Amino acid sequence: MTTAVTIPRHGGTGGRTAVAARARQVVKAYGSGETRVVALDSVDVDIARGQFTAIMGPSGSGKSTLMHCLAGLDTVTSGEIFLDETEITRLKDKKLTQLRRDRIGFIFQAFNLLPTLSAIENITLPMDIAGRKPDAEWLRRVVDTVGLSERLKHRPNELSGGQQQRVAVARALAARPEIIFGDEPTGNLDSRAGAEVLGFLRTSVDELGQTIVMVTHDPVAASYADRVLYLADGRIVDEMLRPTADAVLDRMKDFDARGRTS
Ligand SMILES: Nc1ncnc2c1ncn2[C@@H]1O[C@H](COP(=O)(O)OP(=O)(O)O)[C@@H](O)[C@H]1O
Ligand SMILES: [Mg+2]
Repeated sequence: MTTAVTIPRHGGTGGRTAVAARARQVVKAYGSGETRVVALDSVDVDIARGQFTAIMGPSGSGKSTLMHCLAGLDTVTSGEIFLDETEITRLKDKKLTQLRRDRIGFIFQAFNLLPTLSAIENITLPMDIAGRKPDAEWLRRVVDTVGLSERLKHRPNELSGGQQQRVAVARALAARPEIIFGDEPTGNLDSRAGAEVLGFLRTSVDELGQTIVMVTHDPVAASYADRVLYLADGRIVDEMLRPTADAVLDRMKDFDARGRTS
């Protein structure tokens, strides 16, 4: 007799580990001697699969560096970074490029859409380049979730900033990457367009089971996340679960006050 096993449609780990990415004792230093800057100082972090994680901290605290190292965009000075079971800090250039292409999605502050391509062509471009056929049902779901079904034939300059960034998010989601990274993805948007994009990121976590890591300095943006990590001087100094904008703002003020008195 076979036993019926119910595989959750959403939030399942698809046979993968519950930790999408992890850093172990990661040090990243720039320069040497007198000009040496330690951007990351022995960072340990686990990024849970199917969660929306925000990274916050003052300017220069190492947020972008941490994100770039986790995403394999930058090398580490020492320590290890894993994407699922793959140690990316061991990979040679070619394998790393492949891994970034096949397993990671990026959303940049500047939308980086190609102006001559329509929205849907922009969304499928990375897969077209990689010679991969988009999964039609998944693509429809992503496009429905992004709420741009009516505008797929439009060029970027015929779309609002919020819509363009939603296209960029859809492009990141279309290939079903294991994890999506964004460095201030709503940094160039007004608050209404930002809310549009953040709402969509939230939906992609809740309904599509996506894992997202987002760098932000905005308490409202952070409140869309499940968890906020706080960086200071290259270290993770605190975290907050189920953040609200008010709680995040209070925590930031707290850090500021401590920074001034110490
Ligand atoms: N390419 C680089 N060369 C030298 N120093 C750098 C470089 N990138 C970042 N840094 C330094 O590393 C520290 C962390 O930078 P960054 O990760 O960009 O911080 P954040 O994103 O939190 O503002 C800062 O002191 C910054 O000046
Ligand atoms: Mg930065």
